[in-house]
Amino acid sequence: MQIIEAIEEMQRTSTFFRRQGKVISFVPTMGYFHEGHLSLMREAKRRGDIVVVSIYVNPTQFGAGEDFEKYPRDFERDKTLAESVGVDVIFSPSTKEMYPEHYQTYVNVEGVTEKLCGASRPGHFRGVATICAKLFNIVRPRVAVFGKKDFQQYVVIKLMAQDLNMDIEIIGMQTAREASGLAMSSRNIYLKACEMESALSLSRSLKMAKKLYDQGQRIAGDIVSEIEEFISKHPYTEIDYIKICDTQTLEGVTFIEKETVLALAVRIGSTRLIDNYVFGEELPVPA
Ligand code: PAF
Repeated sequence: MQIIEAIEEMQRTSTFFRRQGKVISFVPTMGYFHEGHLSLMREAKRRGDIVVVSIYVNPTQFGAGEDFEKYPRDFERDKTLAESVGVDVIFSPSTKEMYPEHYQTYVNVEGVTEKLCGASRPGHFRGVATICAKLFNIVRPRVAVFGKKDFQQYVVIKLMAQDLNMDIEIIGMQTAREASGLAMSSRNIYLKACEMESALSLSRSLKMAKKLYDQGQRIAGDIVSEIEEFISKHPYTEIDYIKICDTQTLEGVTFIEKETVLALAVRIGSTRLIDNYVFGEELPVPA
């Protein structure tokens, strides 16, 4: 496995592979790997000849007062895990290279970034779209694999690739979960033992929503109220949003008709967690 830090070297390496006719598949990450990341890497391996994984905690997607400084990092462990699933290249650039002095260019996807997390984290998706566009230009993949736990991010990146005519297939993978149902996230390490039951209220509430849907409930507001009540009963919880939206536009819906996602963001103590459920899909959460 190759470790590359310089942008120019990554570009040269990608050009070399592409000239050989190899398909580069790419997994952008901020590191501190868990099983969710590894499942994205395995999918990338299935879809391409060369798997490139980037590890970069991108400062432009964190707002003031968010967890940029304390975001967990463990490069040595990440290296071992990436190697164990057959990653070919880790690209791990410095901020000095990614955002040099006088850096002034940002990618702003409109509409879908204004809702859900975009409303509570202004500038977040501008940072995400910008770094992904930059990474795509550096790594030049044919395929890029994202986790659907960050459902809105997946929608934003898919739209950016389409609108800017990027010749990259964007793949979304199901959320990896702990046996308890908790959606895997690098941020789960912030959770205190006493907050765990409250954290589980997110995936359990999705299970409740699935049950209501399977029983024929289609009124979005009724599902949201039940969930709201359930989550609020747990200590340390502060709901940011619970919304039922169209999976493409992320516009809120009144009735569940077309493909629809229930998306939620809840603060558990000082940790902000997100999760979602696309109605009609399986949901591996214990009852
Ligand atoms: O999902 C993430 O880890 C990040 O938002 C991403 C896509 C790597 C961009 O920094």
